[in-house]
Amino acid sequence: MCGIIGYVGPRSAESVVIDGLRRMEYRGYDSAGIAVLEAGGIALRKKAGKLVNLETELEIDPIPESHVGIGHTRWATHGAPNDANAHPHVSTNGRVALVHNGIIENFASLRAEAIAKGAVFASETDSEAAAQLLGLEVAAGAGLADAMRTICRRLEGAFTLVAIDTASPDRIVAARRNSPLVVGVGDGEMFVASDVAAFIEFTRDAVEMGQDEVVEVTSDGYTVTDFAGTVVAGKPFHVDWDLSAAEKAGYDWFMRKEIYEQPKAVLDTLLGRYNEARELTLDEVRIADSELKRINKIIIVACGTAFYSGLVAKYAIEHWCRIPCEVEIASEFRYRDPIITSETLLVTISQSGETADTLMAVRHAREQGAKVIAICNTNGATIPRESDAVIYTHAGPEIGVASTKGFTTQIAAAYLLGLYLAQVRGTKFGDEIAAVMTELESMPEKIQRVLDNTDQFHALATRLSDKRSVLFLGRHVGYPIALEGALKLKEIAYLHAEGFPAGELKHGPIALVEPGIPIFVVVPPHGRDQLHDKVISNIQEVRARGAQTIVLVEEGDTEVEPYADEVIWLPKASTLLQPLLAIVPLQIFACEVATRLGHDVDQPRNLAKSVTVE
Ligand code: F6R
Repeated sequence: MCGIIGYVGPRSAESVVIDGLRRMEYRGYDSAGIAVLEAGGIALRKKAGKLVNLETELEIDPIPESHVGIGHTRWATHGAPNDANAHPHVSTNGRVALVHNGIIENFASLRAEAIAKGAVFASETDSEAAAQLLGLEVAAGAGLADAMRTICRRLEGAFTLVAIDTASPDRIVAARRNSPLVVGVGDGEMFVASDVAAFIEFTRDAVEMGQDEVVEVTSDGYTVTDFAGTVVAGKPFHVDWDLSAAEKAGYDWFMRKEIYEQPKAVLDTLLGRYNEARELTLDEVRIADSELKRINKIIIVACGTAFYSGLVAKYAIEHWCRIPCEVEIASEFRYRDPIITSETLLVTISQSGETADTLMAVRHAREQGAKVIAICNTNGATIPRESDAVIYTHAGPEIGVASTKGFTTQIAAAYLLGLYLAQVRGTKFGDEIAAVMTELESMPEKIQRVLDNTDQFHALATRLSDKRSVLFLGRHVGYPIALEGALKLKEIAYLHAEGFPAGELKHGPIALVEPGIPIFVVVPPHGRDQLHDKVISNIQEVRARGAQTIVLVEEGDTEVEPYADEVIWLPKASTLLQPLLAIVPLQIFACEVATRLGHDVDQPRNLAKSVTVE
């Protein structure tokens, strides 16, 4: 949700900023802009629409060569996505240019104050209030870093700000509260950005910025302070992936690449977490066993796809650990006065680790005394930093806006957590845990088998891409898969798609079934209960009303075949692990339909990858 970058060093600021914006465009693509310092002033170019529009503008009207610059790619909140509202914003006195990610809640009063002091606003954004106030502060004699601290103390809401000042031509100053910011440490050059992907081409050494901190950066160093000006130590880290992970590597879409990376991503997530003594060792769960034994309720909180992975996790955690487990949409959580005690364990699931709704849930739960474990894919992001413990999914950067490998690795990590709790609390014996781990470890190879035979999913997409409505049904862990399959299709193909628990159909949604409507059904493997047979009955119910049934079922389950218009065979897996396989054809189907409809798969309309506003 808005990507921002700043550069100071010997390279061309324009090329570093534009390359960085390209790698962060998944964060927002309503408009893009760049500002660089030039002799005695600021050169600014900004354009509504995708980054390519800004690049065209730069060809028509080149920006002067400079070694200090800032850039922004926007997901609009305040003000329409037009040229004027694009960032950077330059103060009326021409002193500073500023980019902002987040929402400044008290912008109206700040705007009025800046106008009273002579500022003339050129946009409708909340961000410009910060630019104008910063311009007024430096004009009154403050250094850029001091001025930044002064305005940050007055801002309410969420913000990452990056600014340049014509009077300090060798530096950039950035600040953060509730929005992401990392510093990239190069050799004689420095970067600040929302995401390490922006500068990964130049350095893998980075520094995490804490909450309410300001960083002042020159080409050969950086100083971090809190908003009061006290120097604080940033937390250095090394990025464990390189440029190739942030590029398409021959694929046409990041999403397609990320779907194909799932075997490795799940394998990497499992790696090193189960030792030869057949014990789960989650080093990052630094909560004492005695505390984990006291827990009497787990609440999983997440948004979107991560919420659906939480729904899958609930079935496994309750089954293995016998602890009640609720799953809740993060934006609903704290507003309903949830019952949280020191015996509650909050588990958050977030690919980005920056989702504002999830972050607020973490803070709310901790205030009530709960322990918090984050499942996250982004090293050092705010949510894991503010949690008591973290289990990182090792999926590598996920750039396609529609989450794919994020989802499957979240399920794998949540399963590790469930088994770990079962081990600590003694609700499963070592042999039982070993059996699940053995099966879990076989899943990357099985996912690969699904990916090795995708012709059928492509043909299905060709056949069904003219449909306006598609339904997805499942029961038990197949239900969240139905929801996620539908979400993928909505997000990137813009089709009406709904997922339902198959048994709920006759309580209303069956009215949507009309002749020819495609309905995907996830069939659970044969088990001790009757679930499998009940889903077959549900397939018959919709088929009797003319639906085209596309049935995902495990190899060898020929009982289902007579009721299916098309069968997608999945490698055999137990009920709890089947989601890791069943979602893959649905991801590919959505990607193929969207491609056939001519949509931008990686940057679907109205969406942004990381939602840092509530
Ligand atoms: C869907 C998707 C979103 C995210 C949601 C949470 O494809 O990507 O629904 O899952 O915005 O994001 P994170 O996991 O970063 O908290």
